[in-house]
Amino acid sequence: MPKLLEIYKCEKCGNIVEMVHGGPGALVCCGEPMKLYKENTTDAAQEKHVPVIEKLKDGETKSTIASIVTHGIGGTTKVANRFKVTIGSVAHPMVDEHYIEWIELVADGKAYRQFLKPGDAPEAIFCVDAESITAREYCNVHGLWKKEGE
Ligand SMILES: [Fe+2]
Repeated sequence: MPKLLEIYKCEKCGNIVEMVHGGPGALVCCGEPMKLYKENTTDAAQEKHVPVIEKLKDGETKSTIASIVTHGIGGTTKVANRFKVTIGSVAHPMVDEHYIEWIELVADGKAYRQFLKPGDAPEAIFCVDAESITAREYCNVHGLWKKEGE
C-alpha cells in the first residue's frame, strides 16, 4: 500500500510520482505496477549521491534569495533558517545522460523541491523555518538517496 512521500517510477515510460496521499490501491502505469524507489539501494558511489546538508549563517548565501523574513503573530519577525543541500561530498555530474533531477527537503510536515537540469550546479538552498531537515535527491541513473539532518 503506497505511503506518504514514497517515490514510484514506471519502468516503461519513465513517469515518476510522489505520493501525497496513500490509498489501498497499487499504482499502475502503462499496464504495469510502478516500481517503488527506496533510498540508498544502489551500489553507485555514495560520495557522489548522499546529500550534504549545511545550515548557512546569517548573510551567507550564494542564491538569488537574499533573505526570507516571515512575520509572526503580534508583529514579531523571525528569520527562517537557510539550508544548503549539495550532491554530494564529491560533486555529482550534471550532464544530459547523468544528472540530479531534483533535490527535496522535508521538514515539519512540509516538502520543498528544487528541480535541476543538466549544466546546473548539483545544489539547492532552502529557506525553512525548521531546526532539522531530511534531504532527498533523485539521480536519473542511480535513483533515490537520502540524508537526515542533525
Ligand atoms: Fe548518479
